[in-house]
Amino acid sequence: MEDWVAIGYLLSAALFIFGLKKLGHPKTAPFGNQLGATGMLVAVLTTILSMEMQGVVEWPVIIAGLLIGGLIGLVMAIKVEMTGMPELVALFNGFGGAASALVALSEVWTYIENSATPPSDNLTIAVVMVAAGLSALVGWMTLTGSLLAMFKLKGGFYVPLTKKDERGRRKWISTPTWGPTWLNPVKVILFIAVLGLIYLSIESPTNTTYLWGIIGISCLLGIILVLPIGGADMPVVVSLLNSLSGIAAAFTGFIIGNSVLIIAGSLVGASGLILTFIMCKAMNRTLPDVLFKSFGGSGEKETLTRTKVGSDPDEVAMMLDGAQKVIIIPGYGMAVSQCQHQVKEFADLMNDRFDTEVKYAIHPVAGRMPGHMNVLLAEANVPYEQLIEMDEINPEFPDCDVALVIGANDTTNPAARGDEGPLAGMPIIDADAARSVVIIKRSLSVGYAGVDNDLFYMDKTMMLFGDGKAMMSGLNSAVKEL
Ligand code: TAP
Repeated sequence: MEDWVAIGYLLSAALFIFGLKKLGHPKTAPFGNQLGATGMLVAVLTTILSMEMQGVVEWPVIIAGLLIGGLIGLVMAIKVEMTGMPELVALFNGFGGAASALVALSEVWTYIENSATPPSDNLTIAVVMVAAGLSALVGWMTLTGSLLAMFKLKGGFYVPLTKKDERGRRKWISTPTWGPTWLNPVKVILFIAVLGLIYLSIESPTNTTYLWGIIGISCLLGIILVLPIGGADMPVVVSLLNSLSGIAAAFTGFIIGNSVLIIAGSLVGASGLILTFIMCKAMNRTLPDVLFKSFGGSGEKETLTRTKVGSDPDEVAMMLDGAQKVIIIPGYGMAVSQCQHQVKEFADLMNDRFDTEVKYAIHPVAGRMPGHMNVLLAEANVPYEQLIEMDEINPEFPDCDVALVIGANDTTNPAARGDEGPLAGMPIIDADAARSVVIIKRSLSVGYAGVDNDLFYMDKTMMLFGDGKAMMSGLNSAVKEL
């Protein structure tokens, strides 16, 4: 039987690794996802088998857990909109961190109650308390940090039980971005305090005060680490929290002696960290800059003072007539309006009618999650070779007749080239270097980082005000009538 457990864990670890490899390309990513999910199923079944062997299976508890967890996961997966995925990912990161910390806590608690052998026979009490302390630190920090990140991504939260307004919504509290410089030494002091408490808990493992102290301070640390981060830097913090949830799982795997938890946790930790550095590079910031310099600004949105007259699809179609090169710049608005199929139709029309070369400029943080634009455009069967990364496409804009911006804002905002504000230093798509610019969005309103966009007011820019899908359909009809 023991051999079967070892084989089960080995199989699930192999499935995780191959699944991760397949996730590296959009075409193979769905299969990678299935491999990962199968790996998780094998891991769960193997763990139950192993518990059965040890005679510790409480079937009612396991079945209740599977049913409740499975049902919540199913409802969330069915209900979530594509645009709500980042919040869901943030929430899952937090739950992952909390689950790991709770398992570690229960192991240490069992030990404290029995005051007997350490949780795992092979480990000394010092190693167990260090691993449990670190799991608590990372896990609880991930929970509170992720919950705050989720509300920041949503823009705030409704307060239950308050009076509904005329639109049927309850009181709305927006999530602040707040990070005075004195908060940085506080973070360091709290971090050292947790390490101190872990040390004390080794000296006196049965003293629960230290344990509660570690949990309380870690929760506070999660909040004050995420509170100053906002604006365009949210992708960095979400991928960092994802990585932390994996690290917490690896620590817990160590305490309970579960090899697959150590492997899966390390994979999530390492891949999350790689993604964090990719996001930092995309934002042209270092990780310490994001964590300690509070680029996010106050979270306040700029007040708009300028106006611009809008165009209509017929006018834009006439300008597109005979264009040799068009670069499409998709952004979050394309995801909201779900107009990727109309965008693909437009590219095909331009190609068939005018032999226009059409390419797509993909900014690494466009949308609300890594690869958001790639996923949507792949769903509409846009050939992958036409999706060009920012660094590669930017030199092509001076030769581009029309830059068509669809629901993108921050990722094209020239304000990022300055030294001030939440976007400062972020590389952007050089849409303003194209001969003409067409922007589809519903109004002149600011993007995620809250900064007004000079691109809208340039003489060569035509604004098509309206929902992405409606405007793209209108544009396609107008091009067909040319
Ligand atoms: P944003 O700056 O978020 O702007 C999107 C624009 O889409 C808005 O200005 C909005 O203008 C427009 N829009 C919304 N709904 C629309 C609809 N139905 N039809 C047409 N337009 C619509 O977009 P971006 O350029 O993609 O930049 C992404 C931002 O999100 C960056 O700041 C990035 O750092 C941040 N972020 C990214 C991630 C990841 S991992 N990608 C995660 C968290 C945050 P109107 O209201 O006027 O229509």
